[in-house]
Amino acid sequence: MADEAMEKIVSLCKRRGFIYPGSEIYGGLSGTWDYGPLGVELKNNVKNLWWRTFVQGRDDMCGLDAAILMNAEAWKASGHVDGFNDPLVECSNCKNRFRADHIGDPNVCPSCGKKGTLSAMRQFNMMFKTQVGATEDESSIVYLRPETAGGIFVNFKNVVDSFHPKLPFGIAQIGKAFRNEIAPRDFIFRVRELEQMEIEYFVRPDEWERSFEDWRSAALDFFTATGIAADSVHELEVASQDLAHYSKRTIDFEFDFPFGRKELSGLAYRTDFDLSAHAKASGQDLSYLDDSTGERFVPHVIEPSFGVDRTVLAILSSAYREDELGGEKRTYLAFNKTIAPIKAAVFPLLKNKPELVAKAREVYLMLKKIEPRIMWDDNGNIGKRYRRQDEIGTPACITIDFDTLGETESLKDTVTIRDRDSGQQERIAISELAARIA
Ligand code: GAP
Repeated sequence: MADEAMEKIVSLCKRRGFIYPGSEIYGGLSGTWDYGPLGVELKNNVKNLWWRTFVQGRDDMCGLDAAILMNAEAWKASGHVDGFNDPLVECSNCKNRFRADHIGDPNVCPSCGKKGTLSAMRQFNMMFKTQVGATEDESSIVYLRPETAGGIFVNFKNVVDSFHPKLPFGIAQIGKAFRNEIAPRDFIFRVRELEQMEIEYFVRPDEWERSFEDWRSAALDFFTATGIAADSVHELEVASQDLAHYSKRTIDFEFDFPFGRKELSGLAYRTDFDLSAHAKASGQDLSYLDDSTGERFVPHVIEPSFGVDRTVLAILSSAYREDELGGEKRTYLAFNKTIAPIKAAVFPLLKNKPELVAKAREVYLMLKKIEPRIMWDDNGNIGKRYRRQDEIGTPACITIDFDTLGETESLKDTVTIRDRDSGQQERIAISELAARIA
């Protein structure tokens, strides 16, 4: 049942241009997915909402866009070279590799089913290594960042010196991160090339608990704003033995995905671990001078960390619906207006009537000037167009018909607007359209 639900979402995503398997024409590349024409719009809407909410909408936050390739010393200092590991076992029969904490019986290979073929567990570092420049030796090794957080910590001093923010303040970044996951799985849930939206929020050491609580509720509000079903989000206090090497306290926000309750995003108290570690390794002073008290100290950090791909998957899972409308089964995505890739579609009732097409085009261009997420659709009959727009989650469909042209004088310059969820149609004036779709 869970597999079936997931298969339907994956299939719709491919069929309608949201998400395709990475490098598909070459047989794919495990752990990579490509966002198609609608997927990139959906993803951008998530990122824009996040940026507006947490960066532009607040006066204690600023943004950053740091390089993906970073000096290897940064990842040694942060503890990732030594500690960013997953436990790995390998089958001597089929040669498949598994995460030791993901297999059931440690004596049986989950792939070929042979007994006694799994190796002893060893630690596997998940960072992708590459080399910069033309020489290939130890000194040219760099890592693709495994979390965007690293770029924020190494720029703390730059931001303080150039921008002079007052504590508490945060630095936010959206960008790609790379993890050589042993077992990528569940569509875009566990991938090797992922995107994160992260905040490092710097506080006075004694302020961390209050700030942690503030960010806990801000994260929940953000999920709601994206349309993620609030009753499917749960908080998990991470046990001390499971905490990441940098964290003193972490809450995982979990979501009821079709394949089970799994981590959607995290909120961690990273203490002064990172700034102190980078100060020691780089020899730079990464303390902060509070000019109101004259005190100098290393700030502590609260880190709300959101995965873009998992947020998109939680939105898709929350929005996916099947029902019956007018005696026909249909599938639709109940995206909210903020997140929907297309806000409204405009149709001429018939595509072979030039006067209808011209008027519809006029309405389409007028709306597109105000709201770019408008689609033109004149392909197939109206019923088919409605189904297509339902499947991609377009909240409103606008049809220009003969009454719009004045066939019934009192209805001149009115159109029908159809609501995706109820299928109900209403007749409204063209002049009211902009306000209705906003
Ligand atoms: N800076 C903290 C950090 O990176 P994390 O729990 O390892 O913490 C944060 O990752 C978020 O990034 C996760 O909650 C998840 O949303 C996303 N994420 C992590 N690994 C992922 C993967 N392999 N595929 C997709 N998303 C992933």
